[in-house]
Amino acid sequence: MEWNKKWFRWGFSFLIFLIVVSGALGIIHEGHAGATESMFLHRYVGVQSCEACHSSGLLGRQFQAWKSSPHSRAFLDLSSREALDIGKRLGVSDPKTSQRCLSCHVTAPNAALPEAVSTFRMKDGVQCESCHGPGEDYTHYSVMIDPKKAREAGLVIHPDKKTCLTCHNPSSPTYKGFDEKTAMSQIAHPLPPAMSEKFGSSLTGGAP
Ligand code: HEC
Ligand code: HEC
Ligand code: HEC
Ligand code: HEC
Repeated sequence: MEWNKKWFRWGFSFLIFLIVVSGALGIIHEGHAGATESMFLHRYVGVQSCEACHSSGLLGRQFQAWKSSPHSRAFLDLSSREALDIGKRLGVSDPKTSQRCLSCHVTAPNAALPEAVSTFRMKDGVQCESCHGPGEDYTHYSVMIDPKKAREAGLVIHPDKKTCLTCHNPSSPTYKGFDEKTAMSQIAHPLPPAMSEKFGSSLTGGAP
């Protein structure tokens, strides 16, 4: 137990060190230039911004869980034989450029508009921010570790069934129903117990 904690503390400090260095190099966040002209409250930054921290074992490798889920392939799958067949049936000649498909298969279907920063990539499909909210203002370390600040900056800590149903609904040409319990367990990517041990209920704001 003691040993575990020591490792956790050491590893965590190292993680923070990496974050500070990459932050200084401008890798994590591209800055606020132009944000004031944006009609959007917060903009999408793209999954690689989250990857910088959330691929770490200390945080629970949420990036890897997402990468191996169908959500990471949602855009690429629009080029499949099956997608072309579905498109043909609905009079859509190129699913990967049609809003009728992109609306559910990518995080920001209008990425050309100022709703996303330049690091955002459509090809990454349904990304973290589809469920957790656009990350421009909460991906900084000092905000991220403070659940209250993070919520105020747009982070949705506990997405629920309502979030899923914005895409998992009968408007999907392949819809066969949505079972919340099964679907949630198929994409589960919790923080490790060590995190909740360290931060206690401050981590979840007391919610279950
Ligand atoms: C600078 C590093 C860093 C970046 C970048 C980052 N996170 Fe985090 N995130 C953390 C840390 C550390 C925690 C641990 C929670 C805490 O300390 O309260 C966390 C916690 C979270 C939580 C749970 C919050 C809670 O209070 O339970 C969510 C959800 C989350 N991050 C989503 C994201 C998403 C989505 C992105 C990308 C848009 C992202 N994070 C980018 C470091 C980061
Ligand atoms: C309302 C949201 C929505 C729209 C619009 C939508 N999809 Fe999907 N798509 C989904 C969801 C959710 C799934 C996962 C399976 C399901 O529940 O339908 C999916 C799955 C798929 C799959 C994989 C099927 C499988 O067997 O898993 C293909 C291919 C696909 N969609 C193509 C398309 C094409 C082509 C269009 C445009 C003509 C389109 N989708 C429009 C939400 C949508
Ligand atoms: C399809 C929706 C969806 C996507 C995509 C998604 N998440 Fe989540 N995330 C959830 C749900 C649902 C939960 C569970 C919320 C709860 O505990 O009530 C969750 C939980 C988390 C937690 C733990 C929160 C806690 O306090 O226990 C973190 C951290 C997190 N997500 C980060 C990420 C990151 C980083 C990505 C992208 C690499 C991502 N998520 C992609 C829906 C999503
Ligand atoms: C922005 C739209 C969007 C949201 C929000 C979303 N999904 Fe999905 N989901 C999709 C698409 C599109 C696919 C199909 C991807 C593919 O196979 O190409 C999919 C596939 C899945 C699959 C694979 C099984 C299947 O039905 O094909 C599961 C499980 C899943 N989603 C769970 C969830 C859960 C749980 C939530 C809510 C926490 C959620 N999704 C929110 C768009 C979404």
